[in-house]
Amino acid sequence: MADRINAILQNENYKIYLAKNEEIEKNREFCHHDLQHFLDVARIAYIINLEKNINIGKDMVYAAALLHDIGRWMQYEKGVPHDEASAKLAADILKVCGFNENEIKEIVAAILMHRKVSVDEESLSYLIYRSDKLSRGCFNCKAILECNWPEEKKNYNIKY
Ligand SMILES: [Fe+2]
Ligand SMILES: [Fe+2]
Repeated sequence: MADRINAILQNENYKIYLAKNEEIEKNREFCHHDLQHFLDVARIAYIINLEKNINIGKDMVYAAALLHDIGRWMQYEKGVPHDEASAKLAADILKVCGFNENEIKEIVAAILMHRKVSVDEESLSYLIYRSDKLSRGCFNCKAILECNWPEEKKNYNIKY
């Protein structure tokens, strides 16, 4: 089977959007929405997926994580909420990277939900939401006092 995850990584538009996120956040003191963040989310999500026996396909988890914030630059540039922007950009990339209609639907739904807690703790949406939060190293952040994340959401401990 074709390597669909590395097809995303090599996709020309994907690279352009990553560069746009990087450029627009270069002076940002808070969390960045870069490839490191996407990989952190992918790996944490996949660990939860394994530990809780959720059994979502590895490609699905990695694709959703790699794409969940890809439209962040559009939030800064055009005021579009970045979950919506990312979902739209992601659908086009997934199509050319070999994902079928049902898979695209599920990944796009997870991207659209990644800022809200979803009820189904066995869904891809919940996996991405949860690992997105867990991925942030608040315990080692210089901007912790200025960050507007609610105190109870900040990661003051390493969860393992
Ligand atoms: Fe996000
Ligand atoms: Fe994120």
